[in-house]
Amino acid sequence: MTLFNTAKHKAVESEDGSYTAYSKEYNEHYHSTKDGALSESLYKHVVPAFKLTQDKDSLAILDICYGLGFNTLATILYYKEHTPKKKLSIYSPELDAELIYSLKDFIYPKEFEGLREIIETLSREQKYEDEQLCIELFLGNAREYIKEFENHFDIVYQDAFSPSSNPVLWTKEYFGDIKKAMKEDAVLTTYSTALKTRLALYENDFLIYINEGEQFRNATLASRKELEGYKRVDIEHKISCNPDVKPLSDAELGVN
Ligand SMILES: C[S@@+](CC[C@H](N)C(=O)[O-])C[C@H]1O[C@@H](n2cnc3c(N)ncnc32)[C@H](O)[C@@H]1O
Repeated sequence: MTLFNTAKHKAVESEDGSYTAYSKEYNEHYHSTKDGALSESLYKHVVPAFKLTQDKDSLAILDICYGLGFNTLATILYYKEHTPKKKLSIYSPELDAELIYSLKDFIYPKEFEGLREIIETLSREQKYEDEQLCIELFLGNAREYIKEFENHFDIVYQDAFSPSSNPVLWTKEYFGDIKKAMKEDAVLTTYSTALKTRLALYENDFLIYINEGEQFRNATLASRKELEGYKRVDIEHKISCNPDVKPLSDAELGVN
């Protein structure tokens, strides 16, 4: 079997047997190799997001960022198994165009075998549409892309590289733009449990919840509405214990 390798990426097998990649540019894996690429997508993003939006007839999802496409593909997989009557649209920015073009050769888990046509169409054309699904990739900067939307998304998967490797996708101002792009009752999922991340969301009026389970390490859910079935994080208490911690800001990173 030929492993997927590009000048900037190296394929790596993760704990659940699915392959992820290591980015030589960001010095980071695309997924937690401990949780496993597919498990991380499902349990930190897709399953809680679908559970919390189950009453909606249609779903618009912002997948930050496409990367290897696991979150988008795991969403389609879950959707086809559980809620195929809804209309589903997924919008996903990705800066690395070469990565997208090369994904037709990525070794995806066997669970994605039925999605081959979607995988190849997205890699080639960055758009896939059928009667239920509409998926659009945007080759460019997520910071610019999210400003195009207002009150649009039901779900946001916040899955950028870590705040230390890619801080511009974790600032208070970034989450302000994300908030504008989200509907009032929308849900954001992220693997990050850092207080700086949670503060950046909290200072944009999000309530913060813990997403925990046996199959994965703790993650975060955020919404402006109360979320049933999840433990709320007492951010005021965290601030009183860590008064020096501040959210990342565009100003400190020199972002205009
Ligand atoms: C952790 S990976 C995303 C993993 C992805 N969700 C998956 O399931 O495979 C982060 C991705 O963000 C992309 N990226 C970094 N900065 C970006 C930006 N400003 N706009 C859009 N994409 C960006 C990187 O090229 C990388 O592919």
